[in-house]
Amino acid sequence: MKIRRAEARDLPSILAIEELCFSREVAFPPDALSILLEDATALVAEDGNLAGFVIGFVRGEAGKVVTLDVLPERRGEGLGRGLMVALEEEFAILGARASRLEVSIENRRAIALYADLGYSGAALLEDYYGPGEDALLMVKRLRRAGP
Ligand SMILES: CC(C)(COP(=O)(O)OP(=O)(O)OC[C@H]1O[C@@H](n2cnc3c(N)ncnc32)[C@H](O)[C@@H]1OP(=O)(O)O)[C@@H](O)C(=O)NCCC(=O)NCCS
Repeated sequence: MKIRRAEARDLPSILAIEELCFSREVAFPPDALSILLEDATALVAEDGNLAGFVIGFVRGEAGKVVTLDVLPERRGEGLGRGLMVALEEEFAILGARASRLEVSIENRRAIALYADLGYSGAALLEDYYGPGEDALLMVKRLRRAGP
């Protein structure tokens, strides 16, 4: 399994994976993903076909994870973890000292992964995804990149 930077040609696969990972109400629309692919840091996990991707960006000293998606049939193989670690490395190279993300409080699997990677719950964001759909803000301090 190789993790590499996403390219414009990956957009159709990325859209298909996003559709399989999130309901229509919370999935990123195609236009938004297309813009993120160009303007943000986007990485894909590939072994012939794309099995997952992660997108984030850095503003100042903070990295923000926008989305993390692994194909349902490829979960539990370590791809989510590998994508997150690779994104954090990119964040650190771009000068980020911390990484942050929002995750649905219902998403136990993702919260378990982030906690295991060193993220801590920093705040409960009420109604973040809609009425009664709360999110947890999670943050992690990053190590400086470099020699
Ligand atoms: C969340 C998600 C990205 C995890 O991807 P994954 O490739 O299955 O994750 P990994 O295989 O790297 O698992 C990493 C960790 O997740 C947790 N995890 C994995 N499978 C789990 C399960 N069945 N139950 C609970 N925790 C689990 C464990 O902490 C695991 O650590 P381990 O490798 O030491 O066992 C994936 O389930 C997904 O795409 N879900 C839908 C989209 C989504 O919710 N994205 C996150 C939005 S914030």
